[in-house]
Amino acid sequence: MLEIHLPEFPQLETERLILRQTELSDANVIFEMRACAEVMKYIPVPLATKVSETEDYIQSLQERMENKECINWTITLKETGEMIGTIGFYRMKLQHYRTEIGYMFLPQFYGKGYASEAVLRLLDFGFSTLRFHSIEAVIYPDNIGSIRVVEKCGFVREAYFKESEFHGEQFVDVAVYSILNK
Ligand SMILES: CC(C)(COP(=O)(O)OP(=O)(O)OC[C@H]1O[C@@H](n2cnc3c(N)ncnc32)[C@H](O)[C@@H]1OP(=O)(O)O)[C@@H](O)C(=O)NCCC(=O)NCCS
Repeated sequence: MLEIHLPEFPQLETERLILRQTELSDANVIFEMRACAEVMKYIPVPLATKVSETEDYIQSLQERMENKECINWTITLKETGEMIGTIGFYRMKLQHYRTEIGYMFLPQFYGKGYASEAVLRLLDFGFSTLRFHSIEAVIYPDNIGSIRVVEKCGFVREAYFKESEFHGEQFVDVAVYSILNK
């Protein structure tokens, strides 16, 4: 069983980004993303309708983190401190030394290499510091942007499930990408 001890929140840094703890004051930006059909197109969660839902979500993330079920980071620009997205290890399966990674960005920050920069930092932290053995990403096959991000970071497609999720009033296929700690 993988043991995780984080006496304080693990703030991470890349060339252009600071990945810091998510705070209740991030609720407006998280709401903006979770209420945006473009951002949520490939994420099987209903669109948010109230900021208060997002505040509840942030609190639930905090609880899940205390229970070692997930770690969520708010992504900010190093230069301005502006929040641009979120990334995290969701569904950590400590008995299998495995976790799922997930991320989302505000659309005005797409296409600038921020997602791959943040994912590469999490891979390093997840493998070198936390000692996970494998990390997976569960992606809808038409989410080309997300597939490019994980492939660029070294993930390979390992599984494909036909019509395994019900999203947008239809059954959709899901692909599982993963990377091993070598
Ligand atoms: C998917 C997402 C994270 C990509 O973020 P991003 O910051 O634009 O990604 P990057 O800039 O790091 O792009 C990495 C590569 O993917 C390519 N790419 C990104 N989006 C693309 C798209 N929609 N179509 C084609 N290629 C795309 C980039 O061109 C880049 O390739 P390159 O390095 O060869 O030029 C972002 O679009 C997003 O937040 N989407 C909504 C939430 C979501 O779907 N999350 C993932 C759920 S599995």
